[in-house]
Amino acid sequence: MLSSFWNWYVIIITVVTILACLWLLRWTRGISNRDKQEGTGTTGHVWDEDLEELNNPLPRWWLQLFYITIAFAFIYLALYGGLGNFGGLLGWTQEGQYEAEVQAAAVAQEPIYARYRQLDNAALIADPAANATGQRLFANNCAICHGSDGRGARGFPNLTDGDWLYGGSFDTVVQTITNGRTAAMPVMVGGLDEGAIRDLVAYVQSLSGIPADAAMAAKGKASFDTLCAACHGADGSGNQAIGAPRLNDNIWLYGSEAETIYTTITKGRSGKMPVFKDHLNEDRRRVIAAYVLSLSK
Ligand code: HEC
Ligand code: HEC
Repeated sequence: MLSSFWNWYVIIITVVTILACLWLLRWTRGISNRDKQEGTGTTGHVWDEDLEELNNPLPRWWLQLFYITIAFAFIYLALYGGLGNFGGLLGWTQEGQYEAEVQAAAVAQEPIYARYRQLDNAALIADPAANATGQRLFANNCAICHGSDGRGARGFPNLTDGDWLYGGSFDTVVQTITNGRTAAMPVMVGGLDEGAIRDLVAYVQSLSGIPADAAMAAKGKASFDTLCAACHGADGSGNQAIGAPRLNDNIWLYGSEAETIYTTITKGRSGKMPVFKDHLNEDRRRVIAAYVLSLSK
């Protein structure tokens, strides 16, 4: 709401401007009428020695269009909000219209979602209509991070590969979408010198069969067992309860190059999957989860 100063500021400027238009129209008409009576009837502009511009009144229909626009302005301002704090006789607001449209859409879509609610999870994953709905919801809400095909990007997991940070059961995926996820890969190597960190990087690479210096990797194993195994597992198979990725496969969230792994362990990582429970209702979260799971089938 505007303070009373700005309220009157807006009202006065608006009304005065419209009245000024009205006055201008009448005033110019007065001039041309007078010119006619006095027999001059020109604007006083002369070209090419004797070419004069006549000062005739505007055509009546044209003038009336002007009056109509002025009347329209007053009627509009009476019906809709435009004059300071005055909300208009119709009480129309953007929020009100938006709410009404959302409401109407919900009513229109209810039969569609009612059918989806009848389907169990497996049937929903296999349902082509549900997948088409899910794909649209995914495009609007998820594709910006996970890619329009769900294949992700560096730091944003690929959802089509059947490899899961947190787990790929229906309920887990719904959980992920509903409450979001925040991963915590802490910096654990504060006590290690540069060489020991490089050994550890080599060991991490060796876990997934990436060619790495065998002697360095062998030295890195001890650090891994004490610092990393608690979360990533002694064999590097990860822990879905905390979203610690499997390190003994060839699927990487951030990357497998020595430099990237070095950055991950010396700087830490904290991937964040946003919370959707306020933006998408339960029906929609379920349909998106089904679509996501259909991608990895
Ligand atoms: C702002 C970016 C962003 C958006 C938008 C986003 N996500 Fe994510 N999502 C992430 C990140 C980052 C992760 C990984 C979190 C981590 O590092 O642990 C993730 C993780 C996930 C996971 C877990 C994957 C696994 O391997 O367990 C699923 C499932 C998922 N997102 C689905 C969705 C769906 C469905 C949507 C849309 C409703 C969505 N995401 C929207 C960034 C996003
Ligand atoms: C407290 C649990 C925890 C500990 C301890 C931990 N990590 Fe992690 N690590 C994680 C989590 C969680 C992620 C996922 C980060 C994300 O999704 O943003 C991760 C991610 C990684 C990645 C990235 C994998 C990829 O796919 O790009 C590497 C590499 C890694 N950790 C190596 C290590 C090493 C080496 C150590 C020991 C020095 C270690 N981690 C200790 C939890 C841990």
